[in-house]
Amino acid sequence: MRALLMRIEQAAGLDRVGDRLQRAVQSTLRPQRVRDLLHGVWLGHPLHPALVQVPVGAWLSAAVLDAMPGQRRAATALVAVGTASALPAAVSGLNDWAALNREQRRVGLVHAASNSVGLACYAGSLAARLSGRHNLGRTLAYLGLGAASAGAYLGGHLAYKQGAQVNQSVSEAHLIGDGWHPLADLSALPDRELVTREIDDVSVIVYRHGDDVTVMLERCPHQSGPLGQGEVRDIDGHPCVVCPWHGSAFQLNSGGKVVHGPAANDQQVLATRVVDGVLQTRLA
Ligand code: FES
Repeated sequence: MRALLMRIEQAAGLDRVGDRLQRAVQSTLRPQRVRDLLHGVWLGHPLHPALVQVPVGAWLSAAVLDAMPGQRRAATALVAVGTASALPAAVSGLNDWAALNREQRRVGLVHAASNSVGLACYAGSLAARLSGRHNLGRTLAYLGLGAASAGAYLGGHLAYKQGAQVNQSVSEAHLIGDGWHPLADLSALPDRELVTREIDDVSVIVYRHGDDVTVMLERCPHQSGPLGQGEVRDIDGHPCVVCPWHGSAFQLNSGGKVVHGPAANDQQVLATRVVDGVLQTRLA
């Protein structure tokens, strides 16, 4: 199985289809507000893993009921719920997928293909059940469950092995030693400009606005992009740093709150204090 996953990750032949689909997704899912909604920016966590609970739960429950006598109506209802709820889950997944790196997109493409086969089987199952062909409906549902399970396996690989939509910066925070760390003379920090510094080999960005100073990890939680090379932009009245790689934006004056995806997690902000004119910081 590992060898197969490795081959999928390295299957450059998938890129032609993947690149076209990526362009189609990016040109269809607009404006940014819609993308942010689907990424889960409003939730502070990726939305896709939460949405997939509904079809997976409904389809698994339908499989149990299909194995019991006298449960046809209940099983049909669950297949309908699962099939309808798979669509928003798929759209949010495609939205996340379009901002992944190439190796992740290859695995994501096969993940989406498996789930599409599963969805088609369940749609056929629903049609068969509604027309009274329950044995065919049950067979198609079990085939769909097999395809969706393969898709779920690939989704697990995508998240837990390849780190797709996982907070990429938080592990760095644990490399910072305990206690306060001197960072810079406060008077030497430029106003409303990003400055990059290191604490225990962990890169952080410093943003000063008058007497207010924000220190946050530099690695973007989405795909480790260098926020220190990002632009500072006013978004909804807040100064925000915009990641140069895919445009995620984090508030610089409000705890690193994410305001635009594809990142769905807030950025880690560090505590600050000034002692004898020296800015110090530590893990909050
Ligand atoms: S790395 Fe993708 S938005 Fe920052």
